[in-house]
Amino acid sequence: MIRELSNPVVKTLISSLRNSDTDALRFRHIVKEITKLLLYEALQNSVFLSRKIQTWRGEELHEVLDEPSFVVVTVLRAGMPMLESVMETLPKITGGFLAMKRDEVTHKSKLYYDRLPDCQGKTVLIVDVMLATGGSLCDAIDVVKQKGAKEILSLNIIGAPEGLENVQSSHPEVNIFISQIDEKLNENKFIIPGLGDAGDREYNTPEN
Ligand code: PRP
Repeated sequence: MIRELSNPVVKTLISSLRNSDTDALRFRHIVKEITKLLLYEALQNSVFLSRKIQTWRGEELHEVLDEPSFVVVTVLRAGMPMLESVMETLPKITGGFLAMKRDEVTHKSKLYYDRLPDCQGKTVLIVDVMLATGGSLCDAIDVVKQKGAKEILSLNIIGAPEGLENVQSSHPEVNIFISQIDEKLNENKFIIPGLGDAGDREYNTPEN
């Protein structure tokens, strides 16, 4: 299942990301804001637990998400602010890290760092800003599956139809929540119109 957020607030934020005048601080801030909207959407059918909490009227039972049953996995670099955003909202979620770099010639992603917690029986949210060919996401899903995840959800800011199709055909059970599906990939596998290289925009490395 692919769910695209389409509302005027999200469109406005995406247009700010496309704007080259948006600096790194604002860029990361917007990525974090959109991530919260994706998170609400992705977890809207989650089961609640009833927890005893101390309130102004005394001890009462109230509904909460079972935060420790979730893991958020970021694909570095660009996904880093997305992990921060998820963990600011739900601080008891466990965080995991995968570092991948897309080879500029072959356009294939290469995993060079893996620091994942145990995912046995957990719902894993994989967060990455861009879904271009979908290669990085497919590789991330493979690694997370090997760690025993019960369910995998993908949260992305922007993607291309070709990449979404690729992920869907390899991993049809993974639900993808994305704020903007753009037109296509160009010959260099960049998203068109896209927003440039999200990692470079976030961390001021335009020459990379
Ligand atoms: C970008 C992006 C994704 C990947 C998407 O990362 O953040 O991880 O490319 O491309 P794909 O769908 O074709 O695999 P990049 O390799 O530029 O690394 P960075 O985040 O460190 O800039």
